[in-house]
Amino acid sequence: MEIIIKPNAAEAQQEVARILRRQIQRQPDSVLGLATGSTPIPVYAALVKMHQQGELDFSRVITFNLDEYVGLAADHPCSYRGFMQQHLFGKVNLTPKNIHFPDGLAKDVPAHCAEYEAAIGGAGGIDLQLLGIGRDGHIGFNEPSSSLASRTRIKTLTPQTVKDNAKCFGSPDQVPRHVITMGVGTIMDSRHCLLLATGEAKADVIARMAEGAITADVPASALQMHPSCTVVVDEAAAAKLKRHEYYRWVYENKPPWQRV
Ligand code: GLP
Repeated sequence: MEIIIKPNAAEAQQEVARILRRQIQRQPDSVLGLATGSTPIPVYAALVKMHQQGELDFSRVITFNLDEYVGLAADHPCSYRGFMQQHLFGKVNLTPKNIHFPDGLAKDVPAHCAEYEAAIGGAGGIDLQLLGIGRDGHIGFNEPSSSLASRTRIKTLTPQTVKDNAKCFGSPDQVPRHVITMGVGTIMDSRHCLLLATGEAKADVIARMAEGAITADVPASALQMHPSCTVVVDEAAAAKLKRHEYYRWVYENKPPWQRV
């Protein structure tokens, strides 16, 4: 696991945007796994800007989002599909048929989840999976106790996640209890994982994820077993990492060919 510590959130977000830009420029038909949450919003804004400046062409890019609320239509203002439309899809030249999302209104959820997995496989697998992290260690919506080998399926949110995600809904009572999410195993199959975390509220979980035991109690800790995972954090989110200085040293001494 490579841990990149940036002085502030803006620089961490820029670093992640640069990594995504390099991926798309090197491989214009990249299959990207995308995440929602407040953390990646500035990353999407940076990608939109790069697109407007003519640096990024999304026409051949294929996307798969991590998760969606069960019971919300794509055009619901709090759906993750709506979020992506607002922050990225509506502002770049992605080809609509290349955009994939779990369907919150699927009639047969297990069959839909199996189709989603098959579609990822059919696209050749995910080249780069962007991730955020929940305060309880979830990635996608794989809450604590999720199998580290899990595939796309329905999950029940924890009361804490319901509360954390209530902003758009007005109150926690309005937040759906169920979601469809790629599994930890699905995420682990991506060729590269790129996790962004900013702010002091993420400091505890970043330390547990990167330096604690690999356990279903912190689903993101499975990323320690990923052969190619980059974690980009700001100083606030890095505050509780015990090998803080070493990560910085590694980054400063990176061979030029490894740099973005
Ligand atoms: C949700 C999403 C996750 C995201 C997490 C953190 O639960 N399903 O993919 O990482 O929120 O959100 P935020 O970035 O707002 O802290």
